[in-house]
This record gives sequence, C-alpha cells and structure tokens, in this order.
Amino acid sequence: MKKQILLTPGPSQVPPRVAEVAARPMIHHRTPEFREVLARIHKNIRCVMGTTGDVFILASTGTGALEAGVANTLSAGDKVLCAVAGKFGERYSEICQAFGMNVVEIVKEWGGLVTASDVRKALESHPDAKAVFVTHSETSTGALHPLHEIGPVVREHGALFIVDTVSALGGVPMKMDEWGIDMLAAGSQKALMIGPGLAFLGMSARAWKAYETSTLPKFYFDMKHYKKRWEEKGETPFTSAVTLCLQVDEALQMIMEEGLDNVIERHRRLSRACKAGAAALGLEFYSENRSDIETVVRVPDGIDGVALVSMAQERFGIKLSGGQAQVKGKIIRIAHMGYATEQDVILALSALEMCLARMGFDAPLGAGVKAAEEVFQNEM
Ligand SMILES: Cc1ncc(COP(=O)(O)O)c(C=O)c1O
Repeated sequence: MKKQILLTPGPSQVPPRVAEVAARPMIHHRTPEFREVLARIHKNIRCVMGTTGDVFILASTGTGALEAGVANTLSAGDKVLCAVAGKFGERYSEICQAFGMNVVEIVKEWGGLVTASDVRKALESHPDAKAVFVTHSETSTGALHPLHEIGPVVREHGALFIVDTVSALGGVPMKMDEWGIDMLAAGSQKALMIGPGLAFLGMSARAWKAYETSTLPKFYFDMKHYKKRWEEKGETPFTSAVTLCLQVDEALQMIMEEGLDNVIERHRRLSRACKAGAAALGLEFYSENRSDIETVVRVPDGIDGVALVSMAQERFGIKLSGGQAQVKGKIIRIAHMGYATEQDVILALSALEMCLARMGFDAPLGAGVKAAEEVFQNEM
C-alpha cells in the first residue's frame, strides 16, 4: 500500500472539505448563486490581502497575475527595478524583459535578501525607475523579503510597488494597503489550499492611475474588463473557473473560521518546529530571514540530494521538494503551508532523518522529531 503526503511548496495539500466541493454538479457562472460565491471570495480575499481596494480573480496560475501586474501599469522602455535573489525574482525580471522594459536588477546571491537599504540605493542611482518588483516569499530559497520596510522606501520615491506573494499569501502576514503595495499577485495552490489554476491580483488606486498611461498590449489580462464587469454585474469578464472558485470560496471560509491570526500563528508554530528539527539534525539552513511557509536546508556534503528526495517519496510516501535550477540536488525544501499540521512536520522530519541515516549521514534517529515535538509541547 502507498500513502502519499504532499509537503512541497506548491501544489500543497487540499483539505477534504475543499476537495469534495469539486464533485458538486456544475453551476452557471452568470447566476445569482455564483455571484454570491464571488462576492464572498472578494470579501475574504481582501481580508487575507489586507486591502480595501480592488482584487480580481484570474483563471490562470500565479504567473498570469505577475504578468498582469506588469502589463496594466507600465509601457515599453520604462525603467523598472527587480529584486532578484532566487528563481521567482528572476521570473519577474524575465516578464519585464519580455515586455520591453528597461530592467535594472538588484541582485543578491540565491538564499540572500534584498533589503530596504538595497532598494533605497538602487532608487537613488535610478531616480527615473517607474516600479520596483519584489518577491514576498522566495519559494526557491525560503527567504522572506521585508515588504513592510521596503514599501515605505518605494512610496517615498514615488515608484509603484509590485509584489509577488504567490507562495506566501495566507501563510505569513500581508498588509497590502499598510505596506503601500500597488499590485499584489497571488496563486491558489499554496497556502490558499486549492489546486493550481486560480490567481488573484490586488490593485491600488495608484496602480489604476498608472493604468491610464500604460501602453503595453493586453487583452485577457486587461484589468479594465475585470473592473467593469465586477462593478456592473459582480462577475468576472470571461467564463469563471467555476469549480476552482467554489473551492477557494470553501478554503477561504475555512481560513476565516480558524481566524486569520490563528492561521498565521499555526504557520509560525509549524515553521519553528520544523526548523528546530532540522537544526537538531545538524542541517544548515539555506536562506536568510526564513519564511514560515517552508524550511529549506542544504543537502549535507557527500549526500545525493536528488536521490534523497526520491527515497523520501518512494520509501516513505513523503513528497518533499529539492532545489531548482542552480541549487538542484543541493537543497531540500519542506513545505508547511495551507492545510499543514503538526503531524505533517513530524512525518517530514522522520522521513528526512531516516533517509539521511540510510545515506550515511551521521545524525541520531529521532533527533529531529524530538526537537519538533518539544516545540509543540512547549507551545501547547
Ligand atoms: C513565489 C512564486 N512566484 C511565482 C510562482 C509561479 O506560480 P505558477 O507556477 O502558479 O504560475 C511560484 C510558483 O511556485 C512562486 O512560488
């Protein structure tokens, strides 16, 4: 018998209550019944995003929302600053380049952090920059960018602040309005607890002002269509991804029932326990300012990281993630986001320590699990 536990930083586990919604008979997207669902999603996602402004639901993965953030605010040739400290920072830069922006990258080594002071320096060197792009939780490295410090710096300069919170939203605090974020892109398959295929885009009044002068080509992702249809009918302009909307409605209701603060605190607790377990095994963390949605550690010298991830899945049914691109085989990523519990952290650490032991790494069996259990016991 094989039982698989999905502990990757997207897609993440879907609660049974949310999965069951997908089996309901289809409903039409231009009905009062569905408009009620959309209205509830809007209300709840605004709360999770920390905004009273516009939020749009896109039938796309997170990258669609990243692209929409660019296409609706800028024009070819505009100078933009992109914080690049991992794969998803690189993606923002690639999207901007594809649209013909004049991209200046603020580069940090993978695992590092672009700070408010880095952004300030870059804006001083490039006062004509129209926008600053930052990845909230850099999923490829596990680093969390300090948006609350970067936002005021960007606002002071007058540039737009455009943020990718695809993997972070619902797992760590987000205060879009308070932090001065103008475009906020989120995805469905991470801490929001449904499968891939839905994205959300928060858009500030300043972003709408920029929209008026933006000349980049857009149609499907032209937010004018979304705003008009929403304001006139409470609907999406194109056919809604009905099933995914019904599911995210359920998932957001679960978040509201648990309480957003409690959900964030649960992520913190799981993160603290998982990181304590990893440290007890003598593993080295990969990134600075570690995000609470995942624990990312370096693969110890002499261990084959790709084989370790395969062994955890094949032998123990625990699906972890390895590294992407330049860190393939060099890091292990354990996600504890969305529908993740204390038991998941214990299972992940247990599988990790057994695999490491089988591969010759010298760490006592049970050390990681014990350290995590101690965190849970002390915080009960
Ligand atoms: C931080 C971040 N940004 C963007 C993306 C891309 O999202 P998608 O694959 O849903 O297009 C991901 C996916 O892992 C991500 O973690």
